[in-house]
Amino acid sequence: MKKGIFISVEGSDGSGKSTQIENIKKFFKDKGIDIVFTREPGGTQIGEILRNLVLDKNLKEMDDMTEALVYAAARAQHVAQVIKPALNEGKIVICDRFVDSSIAYQGYGRGLGESVKIINDFAIAGCMPDVTFLMKMDPRIGRRRIKADQQDRIELEKDDFHIKTFEGYLELERQYPDRIVGIDASRTIEEIKIDIYNKLEDVLKSVVE
Ligand code: TMP
Repeated sequence: MKKGIFISVEGSDGSGKSTQIENIKKFFKDKGIDIVFTREPGGTQIGEILRNLVLDKNLKEMDDMTEALVYAAARAQHVAQVIKPALNEGKIVICDRFVDSSIAYQGYGRGLGESVKIINDFAIAGCMPDVTFLMKMDPRIGRRRIKADQQDRIELEKDDFHIKTFEGYLELERQYPDRIVGIDASRTIEEIKIDIYNKLEDVLKSVVE
């Protein structure tokens, strides 16, 4: 079976993740390499329905475990329907957020801990990114970039939640130094892009070798 490359991009809300995802797409486009770009929660019809549900700011009563399970359910569908088939065809998959988001936001931010990893191990069935870019920026600064009326149910959480989430990301970076590439996202867009491009070149080289 052929094996593609799975790259995820993570970070706090407002950390400049979307801008750098556009740069990642451009990196591959300029090389004439086709990629499959997808996002979480979402990426499938079922996943997009679950996205609207889990981010709906009117659903204030949502229990933390329900929230964790909805993200995991969307992910299970995404892995089965989009990510695994693409990787099995040898494609490069770029995913805007993946399981680290659940560990950081639900595990650390909500304080659900290890149970989040357990439900997600079930959802992803062994499908893990080869490389994860983690955009690191003080979440208080990042959130100020998002207009108040555009914030979803998660973004509307207090600073304390976002700080715990960010600490979760830093812990993941310490635990998985071979997979997670920490990027200082407080620098200019251009400086960040250079770091990411250098890493992507290494990733491509490692596949050819
Ligand atoms: P986005 O704004 O980057 O598209 O992500 C949607 C929100 O959902 C963002 O605030 C992070 C949050 N989220 C989780 O809490 N857990 C998850 O597993 C994922 C994928 C996203």
